[in-house]
Amino acid sequence: MFRRKGSIEIKTPDELAVMRQAGLVVAKALAAISGATRPGISTGELDAIARDVLADNGATSSFLGYKAHGAVPYPGVICASVNDEVVHGIPGDRVLRDGDVLSVDFGAIVDGWNGDAAVTILVGDVTPEIADLSRVTEDSLWAGLRQARVGAHLTDISHAVETTIVESAPPGGGRYGIVEDYGGHGIGSSMHMDPHILNYGSPGRGPILRAGMALAIEPMVTLGNPEVGVLADAWTVVTLDGSTAAHWEHTVAITDDGPWVLTALDDVRL
Ligand code: MF3
Ligand code: CO
Repeated sequence: MFRRKGSIEIKTPDELAVMRQAGLVVAKALAAISGATRPGISTGELDAIARDVLADNGATSSFLGYKAHGAVPYPGVICASVNDEVVHGIPGDRVLRDGDVLSVDFGAIVDGWNGDAAVTILVGDVTPEIADLSRVTEDSLWAGLRQARVGAHLTDISHAVETTIVESAPPGGGRYGIVEDYGGHGIGSSMHMDPHILNYGSPGRGPILRAGMALAIEPMVTLGNPEVGVLADAWTVVTLDGSTAAHWEHTVAITDDGPWVLTALDDVRL
């Protein structure tokens, strides 16, 4: 989220092991939320599930009270973004309906180390267009994760994400929108750290990746145009054309043995 130039935090193997614990808490919460999501449940109830997982695991929230855009501290532990909401939707009384698409973003802190991930959940029966949108967005995330290797350039990730999306046109023709105003980020002793990670661009640019770095990669893709705005609640990011959006995210560590997906439920090394 931040474009300031700076150095990228290098974690020791012990520190990455703690980040894996934080990532596992995130994975467990997102799995619990995915299992509970159905027409009729409110986004506030999903937030409560995540609060329980934090408490059960002795973890704290990366999001609650977070101040990024001025003076409004974030009020939830999850972001729950429905349909034309792209990211940073505030959980509350909104009741999910059959055919909705919901992105849930969640961050946890264990012993000072952060994990951050997001999933897109299909509520009941959604249109094939929406199912494809979510699948392509998730595929683009995994294409990016596979580039998180020692010696690669940062924008090899950006390029892999973009290429996956561009090469999969929506079923009805046209093209997907890749959101440009938000992107991925370094993560570790804070949730948002250098570098900012674009979800598009030429490969071979930016810093060279080294063992001990950790990155949160998070493509945001729409069924229409990529332009977004922020609602009066100071947080919720929506598409300007009202088109539906999907968002997937994982935290990955760069290791000498390849990318280690810290927020996967299983031990995933690519
Ligand atoms: N994964 C989201 C992001 O990196 C989490 C931010 S929500 C906030 O933008 F509330 F913490 F800001
Ligand atoms: Co993030």
